[in-house]
Amino acid sequence: MTDQEKSQRTPLIVGDIIDAIRGVLRKHDVTFEEYRAGFMHLMQLADAHEVPLLLDCYLNQTICDIEMKTRQGSRSNVEGPYFLEDAPMVTDTIKVRGDTKPLLIRCRVKDLQGQPIPDVITDIWFADSNGDYSGYSEDFPKEYFRGKTTTDSDGLYAVMGSIPKEYPMTSNEHGPTGTIIELLGGQGMRPQHIHFKYLKEGYAPLTTQTYFSGGAYLKEDPVGAVFDDLIHELKEEDGVAVLDLNIVLDPAA
Ligand SMILES: [Fe+2]
Repeated sequence: MTDQEKSQRTPLIVGDIIDAIRGVLRKHDVTFEEYRAGFMHLMQLADAHEVPLLLDCYLNQTICDIEMKTRQGSRSNVEGPYFLEDAPMVTDTIKVRGDTKPLLIRCRVKDLQGQPIPDVITDIWFADSNGDYSGYSEDFPKEYFRGKTTTDSDGLYAVMGSIPKEYPMTSNEHGPTGTIIELLGGQGMRPQHIHFKYLKEGYAPLTTQTYFSGGAYLKEDPVGAVFDDLIHELKEEDGVAVLDLNIVLDPAA
């Protein structure tokens, strides 16, 4: 898509969003009092810096679903708010600390024809045993629980990390996002997961997650991002838990 085509889409999309919201107001004969209550709730979201949280909770996966209309490779999944651009390069180990259980993350990256893709830069990030992310918790520096690694000539990488813990979408369950989750009958805990971002020139960037078979909250993820093909059963080798992944990258659009 050219820059001109992109700029032409923006007013169309913004106009349609406003039309869609007006349609909801008309559909439910929303009163001025109800309109003002919604208005004030949006102000509370902004004051609590929870706008990104709310958008990621309800809209990010929809964008991933749209991406899958033109992809044949591995499933795109929510990036979430905890990605950092400048994670440290790692060869075989991501630094962890605290009461964690080791996890070997082993992955083969191929193209649509099944050929291995070397030199794929892979960002990996996950929560610690308290459900916190480095760079966002004051308890530990950002070189922990995240790192970049690269596939070898066979399209493989293997790094030691740790099994992450489930965590709440928001630390304030009675805050402006938490009350919307509750209002809609949901719950706020995300299931255990690991985030990945695969980058290689000539291929469509892939951001995705992996979930753990048998874990809690898989059927009630507040983000709606759990799909069967993203749930993996851990193996055990020499007393260490192993996560084996097969990733397929689409060619660049
Ligand atoms: Fe996460």
